[in-house]
Amino acid sequence: MISIQHVSKTYGHAERTARSVSALVDINLEIGDGERFGIIGMSGAGKSTLVRTINLLERPTEGRIVVDGQDVTDLTGADLRAYRRRVAMIFQNFGLLAQKSVLDNVCFPFLAATGRVTAENRARARELLERVGLAEKAEAYPNQLSGGQQQRVAIARALACDPEVILCDEATSALDPKSTNTILKLLRDISLETGVTLVVITHSMDVVEKICTQVAVLEDGRVVEQGPVERVFAAPAAEATRVLLGKVDWDA
Ligand SMILES: Nc1ncnc2c1ncn2[C@@H]1O[C@H](COP(=O)(O)OP(=O)(O)OP(=O)(O)O)[C@@H](O)[C@H]1O
Ligand SMILES: [Mg+2]
Repeated sequence: MISIQHVSKTYGHAERTARSVSALVDINLEIGDGERFGIIGMSGAGKSTLVRTINLLERPTEGRIVVDGQDVTDLTGADLRAYRRRVAMIFQNFGLLAQKSVLDNVCFPFLAATGRVTAENRARARELLERVGLAEKAEAYPNQLSGGQQQRVAIARALACDPEVILCDEATSALDPKSTNTILKLLRDISLETGVTLVVITHSMDVVEKICTQVAVLEDGRVVEQGPVERVFAAPAAEATRVLLGKVDWDA
């Protein structure tokens, strides 16, 4: 269980200039184990910032991140690296290493964690490539793959650490709708198979409806609505949610 407690994030905080930006304001969220949690909101609402505070790529200016009862907010060094292995992130641009083969990319977390890659690690990486349907691409290089295939390599790499949580920021926006569906179905199936918690930022309400169990709506750095997807989509309470769902009557 990830508990986000009174988290605020102000960029440019230290300089105390007029240009400081309140990206997150007093965020409180609980993300349960095995949940598939969608985060939606307009551009600039704070979605990426929020997800990056979960794995501490951004440190909250205020508030705490508590995971399974452990306050992780101030972790550093080896503890931070160990935490990040539990909370994997799939980046918008896939983040693959161009000079390394697909197999070596998937093995990279093992290398980063232990300084070496064992035969067992390689066997596990091949299993994961099999799981994402890319067993035959193990020796290829990222630039020889389509966007959707690169995305699947990124998922296999994320799974290499046996994470408890996968964070996914717009992971599908660079893809065509068919590849997007394949990827999201894969993530949903993996979540169902392994119980891994998913936190997904998306601009697609279809995506939320199809793969998420819970959703939070951000507006100007604040959570304006949250709850089970079925409830929120059937009866959106916040204006921001209605706008995102296209349920606003512009002529009213
Ligand atoms: N490194 C940074 N330095 C200063 N301001 C930042 C930084 N990163 C984000 N911001 C600001 O914080 C706010 C939230 O940005 P964020 O990237 O979290 O939005 P988002 O909801 O992910 O938007 P999008 O849907 O466009 O990706 C924005 O006003 C943005 O300009
Ligand atoms: Mg973003």
